Amino acid sequence: MAQANSTAAGTAPPGAALRLLAWYDRHRRDLPWRARAGERPDPYRVWLSEIMLQQTSAAAVGPYFARFLVAFPTIEALAAAPAERVMRLWAGLGYYARARNLHRAAQAVAAAGGRFPETEEGLRALPGIGRYTAAAIAAIAYGRPVVAVDGNVERVMARLFALGTPLPAAKPALADLAQAIVAQAPARARPGDFVQALFDLGAGICTPRKPLCALCPWREDCAARAQAIAESLPAKAPRAERPRRHGIAFWIEDRHGAVLLRRRPARGLLGGMPELPGTEWRAARWTLAEALAHAPDAPGARWRLLPAEARHVFSHFELGLGLALARVGRIAVPEGHWLVPRAGLLAEGFPTAIAKVVKLGLAEP
Ligand code: ADE
Repeated sequence: MAQANSTAAGTAPPGAALRLLAWYDRHRRDLPWRARAGERPDPYRVWLSEIMLQQTSAAAVGPYFARFLVAFPTIEALAAAPAERVMRLWAGLGYYARARNLHRAAQAVAAAGGRFPETEEGLRALPGIGRYTAAAIAAIAYGRPVVAVDGNVERVMARLFALGTPLPAAKPALADLAQAIVAQAPARARPGDFVQALFDLGAGICTPRKPLCALCPWREDCAARAQAIAESLPAKAPRAERPRRHGIAFWIEDRHGAVLLRRRPARGLLGGMPELPGTEWRAARWTLAEALAHAPDAPGARWRLLPAEARHVFSHFELGLGLALARVGRIAVPEGHWLVPRAGLLAEGFPTAIAKVVKLGLAEP
């Protein structure tokens, strides 16, 4: 098989920006946060969508984006909302620090008169906005000639230039290559469209597997296609296996069918989200006897552990969450806990990992 070029990369092919923009004008995705052709983008919508699109696909974001805009039509409305309402609307989208930072950034912008910063530097000073998101907002909302480099854009660049250096080492070189194409006049005139065109190309044509090279506006420019190695790029350094963690959640239900819940600490994984009480999540499996030292105080409760457990993959570990159940007459509700009738549980806005274990409990008679 031909070897990808592991160091050098050519200069941007002449006319590349123009070909991509012409393709975008015909094939752009109709996404709910996009301004229509010729319309001025609304920075609030651009920012909200870019935060939601961090680590999440456009298809998953769509309904959340729509619900957020109905609940919080302006940044002032978002700033004034209680944090719990924001978290509840975010539930299921994952990476919950994004929602906490979103709320804090809304409060900072509202306190400064409701105007978003217009430069990458100003944007990066807001919570939850890193280099990538600042570049995306600066390009899309304010027409700055910068390119936001996400995994899609890295893949497109690695292929266009047949750069064989594995990720993550290749990141700076791939960003430079993308920026070199933005420097072409047609992209400088339409930086927001250019970056969104790259997103669309990466999502629909230059896909990780089985790229649709025959339909690509860069098919004649693409060095990887010429060498028939597109699908093997970008090269990746081997990834360590995800560690496993284990926990046991407690489902305690009173004679009216109400179940005890609590809120996770504000900081850290799934911070501020509701959950069933439970053990910590650790490397070793728990026995029921061990776990019961962490169970809600319920004298006389007879706990039984379900044979099935809920599995959930987080970015850095895989969780196996068991469920122990008990019925009692009355539940003493500790500080920071509350009771919810079984029928209302799934409206609590659990993160997906917790919703999975709650569903195990709901399946029990
Ligand atoms: N991914 C990140 N930002 C995006 C955008 N504005 N459109 C489509 N996909 C995206």
